[in-house]
Amino acid sequence: MPYAHITGWGMSIPEKVLTNDDLAQMVDTNDEWIRERTGIRQRHIAGKNDTTASLATEAATNALRLAKLPPTEVDLIVVATSSPEYTFPSTASIVQDRLGAEKAGAFDLSAACTGFIFALNMASQAIRSGSIQNAVVIGSETLSRIVDWTDRSTCILFGDGAGAFVLQAREEPGGVLSAVMRSDGSGADLLSIPGGGSAHPATSQTVLDGLHFIHMSGNEVFRFATRVMASASKEAIEKAGLKTDDIQLIIPHQANLRIIQAAARGLRLPMERFVVNVDKYGNTSTASIPIAVCEAAEQGLLHPGDNTVMVGFGAGLTWGAVAVHWTGPFEEAKPIRLRPYVRLAALRSLLRRIWRFIEGLIWGRGKDSSA
Ligand code: COA
Repeated sequence: MPYAHITGWGMSIPEKVLTNDDLAQMVDTNDEWIRERTGIRQRHIAGKNDTTASLATEAATNALRLAKLPPTEVDLIVVATSSPEYTFPSTASIVQDRLGAEKAGAFDLSAACTGFIFALNMASQAIRSGSIQNAVVIGSETLSRIVDWTDRSTCILFGDGAGAFVLQAREEPGGVLSAVMRSDGSGADLLSIPGGGSAHPATSQTVLDGLHFIHMSGNEVFRFATRVMASASKEAIEKAGLKTDDIQLIIPHQANLRIIQAAARGLRLPMERFVVNVDKYGNTSTASIPIAVCEAAEQGLLHPGDNTVMVGFGAGLTWGAVAVHWTGPFEEAKPIRLRPYVRLAALRSLLRRIWRFIEGLIWGRGKDSSA
């Protein structure tokens, strides 16, 4: 049975920075409160031309470059997101087109901030079953577009960005060793975007009532998160046949420094073993774990042969963890230039649209072309 190795990783962060002092100009808050209660100092905010798909595409391109894998070799693209480009089509389909991943199936996965862990497990399982060879898993968010910037209890928490992994099949043991996926829908109302779905379809009233924004019971989410982070990590470690002492690095969802500290206490591990960058990016939901992995790798905190745990929680309620044996890019892979693939993809996409237009003229718009 092949293993799903993580052979590439990449991130994309919008340029614009919003500091706590900037926020204090917008709502009744201050830098000291935000830092003490959350550990956040600043977050990045999507620019006019950034969308969830554009950030996802850039992160995926960076991950493919590192893995030295052409997009045409990718079999599956999964985008985990809480702020998709549209309800449908999936953000993943747009990314597939922009990457020129000609043979890839693509879909979005909705499990809020735990989405990246769930997506990583799903893609790994597809590789482990032997049905595919190569997958790209992405967490991408433009949460700034669904945050109520007048609500100080939520707007201080979130930020924008994307992170991506390339997963590849290989017989030798390594990569994603185990996974834990859990849900508890009895807490569905604790963190949600109530409007715009089939329960409360968008009307001018739902917009006036702000139902299209993130709504959250912060205290209850906090209590839930502190309970599940350590237990999910322990379960994933056990399932992988490892002990806590075998784990060199824990990469937790970056929502609140106090939640990460509670997880460290629960696992009886020093904070030095935890990757923390919530101070720089805030909570980027599905993107937070892959962004933290990219930074850990860049800072030399992750080495081939290391065991790590990635653990997250979020709306749903959902939570989960994976234990990973870190390998890095396959040695035999040859460097590739990604830009020509992406340029060709744009040209191919344009030609397909033109052809569809011509077909419409030939067959008549709205008529069944098979008739
Ligand atoms: N600035 C200043 N004061 C604020 C504030 C802000 N941004 N937001 C809330 N307050 C006030 C409250 O009004 C309250 O005042 P009161 O005592 O006069 O009523 C006080 O600060 C304490 O509020 P509370 O909500 O109890 O704070 P907290 O310590 O629980 O911190 C969160 C709030 C949101 C930071 C914390 O609950 C949290 O991180 N929860 C988890 C959220 C999360 O991770 N969500 C994403 C999941 S993926």
